[in-house]
Amino acid sequence: MEIRQFLLFNIFLLVLHLSLLSNNNGGGGGVEASHKLFPEFQSLNAVRVGEVHRTGFHFQPPRNWINDPNGPMYYKGFYHLFYQYNPYGAVWGNIVWAHSVSKDMINWESLEPAIYPSKPFDYKGCWSGSATILPGNKPIILYTGIIDPGQTQIQNYAIPANESDPYLRQWIKPDNNPLVVASQGVNSTAFRDPTTAWQGKDGVWRILVGGRRRNRGIAHLYKSKDFTHWTKAQHPLHSKARTGMWECPDFFPVSGSSKNGLDTSAQGNDVKHVLKMKPHKLKTGEHVEVKGITPAQVAVKWD
Ligand SMILES: *[C@@H]1O[C@H](CO)[C@@H](O)[C@H](O)[C@H]1NC(C)=O
Ligand SMILES: *[C@@H]1O[C@H](CO)[C@@H](O)[C@H](O)[C@H]1NC(C)=O
Repeated sequence: MEIRQFLLFNIFLLVLHLSLLSNNNGGGGGVEASHKLFPEFQSLNAVRVGEVHRTGFHFQPPRNWINDPNGPMYYKGFYHLFYQYNPYGAVWGNIVWAHSVSKDMINWESLEPAIYPSKPFDYKGCWSGSATILPGNKPIILYTGIIDPGQTQIQNYAIPANESDPYLRQWIKPDNNPLVVASQGVNSTAFRDPTTAWQGKDGVWRILVGGRRRNRGIAHLYKSKDFTHWTKAQHPLHSKARTGMWECPDFFPVSGSSKNGLDTSAQGNDVKHVLKMKPHKLKTGEHVEVKGITPAQVAVKWD
């Protein structure tokens, strides 16, 4: 996509994320990322509210509960936005990847959910993830599948059923899923939200997966040469004591000199990287300090 579109889209997403964060506050002053459960309301039909209560410009679903934005991408003339969504009720539950498309990021068309529980590797839930455009303009979605009532989490992928369809209405979840499972020493019930992948100078793909060991928040780093076989790097990209689970990590380059957006795998002396995540344990106003990561440090961390 054009740089200007890319920037606008990023600003749009940031605002969206911030507004979702503030929706999630749930009183009490602290940012509480984990949702309160109301099983009795999860599948209770939401009443249609008056249009007067709907936002004019911010993205909203047609009705019901919405949380994380997932896998934003620009593909064949459309902005695609996926999001965690309850098709049946106004509280968190029954989560699917809902899907909307837009040509101008103001007027959105709501499509059928793109990803919903249907396979042994996601039958208890299709949670957050990301999209990566692979060489040859091939979109791929990474998402977290929940595979048991104890909420064991694994990382799956999905690909478009028809790459000629600019709406990307249908997604296939191939049988060689999952791509990543928690290895020994990784907490499998706090292991989710794979990032958009990026390529290092060595051509190897990298992703982060959010995690937690006791109270230490972690951005686990995984590497792959072929996008199919993934191995955990020896060290996480970053971690921090007493911050709790790190949800929805993102890692992306920004230019030190230009206001233009960069491609996910951009590198160079002038390029800095941003690590963003949503720690569970922060109070409003607190922040996790991540030391400025120079390209050289990033290169070391990637290996
Ligand atoms: C794929 O999408 C294109 C463009 O919308 C459409 O013309 C074609 O019929 C689709 N193919 C299949 C197999 O559905
Ligand atoms: C693993 O994650 C779960 C869910 O967040 C948490 O309850 C548990 O304490 C974690 N265990 C360890 C050893 O970190």
